[in-house]
Formats: sequence, C-alpha cells, structure tokens
Amino acid sequence: MIGRLNHVAIAVPDLEAASAQYRDTLGARVGTPQDEPEHGVTVVFIELPNTKIELLHPLGEASPIKGFLEKNPAGGIHHICYEVEDIRAARDRLLAAGARVLGSGEPRTGAHGKPVLFLHPKDFTGTLVELEEV
Ligand code: CO
Repeated sequence: MIGRLNHVAIAVPDLEAASAQYRDTLGARVGTPQDEPEHGVTVVFIELPNTKIELLHPLGEASPIKGFLEKNPAGGIHHICYEVEDIRAARDRLLAAGARVLGSGEPRTGAHGKPVLFLHPKDFTGTLVELEEV
C-alpha cells in the first residue's frame, strides 16, 4: 500500500543553524524558510536525490511541534511521510486493522498542497507517520 518515502521531518530549535549545517556541512540543496501559519510551522525544504528532508520550527503559540521541542530541546525526527495512491482507501484499511488516525480522520491539505493524514505513533512502533496522496 505505501509507496515512496516522501520526506523525513525534523523539528529543530534553530532553523538558521540547521539550514546552514545541511547546506555547508552536508552539502545539500537547502531552500528558504516558508511560513505555514495554518500548520503552525516554518519549514525549510531540503531536496535529496531520493527524498526530501523538512526542517520544522514552531510558528505561533499553538504550534503542534512546540511540545515536541520542549521534550527534545536539541531537536529530533518528528515524523516520516509515505506516499499513497488513494488516501481514503488507505485510511479505511488502517482503521479496519485497528490503527488510529489523528484528528477528525478526514484528510487535510498538507505542506505540499496534497491531502495528508497522520497515524498515531503508538500504533507504529513509536513513529508518527504521515500519509500523503500523490
Ligand atoms: Co510532513
């Protein structure tokens, strides 16, 4: 059911420092910061040959990654995103298997303008999983 790894999202306490490290030390192609107020994050996209890295930094008081950074002050992997062809079919299959879908259960428009869903980390070996329809 799942396809390519679309991205790995890393929450970072200092977006500029993390961007510089990926650009200058790791030699990656690093984009410019983009505010996404409806998701409560500022994102820097990093294009790798086979996938993407997204550096996430909280935007606003209600940011969903604020608590994560309080627990992980140095930053850390926040979620991984797999591509699916039909997100509603994927959701129904996962619900039938007993997995928990976060929020209302209806796909939302994600950071790339495509429908996404998040799955409960306790159901997936401690990893927050995002599904994105491509
Ligand atoms: Co994501």
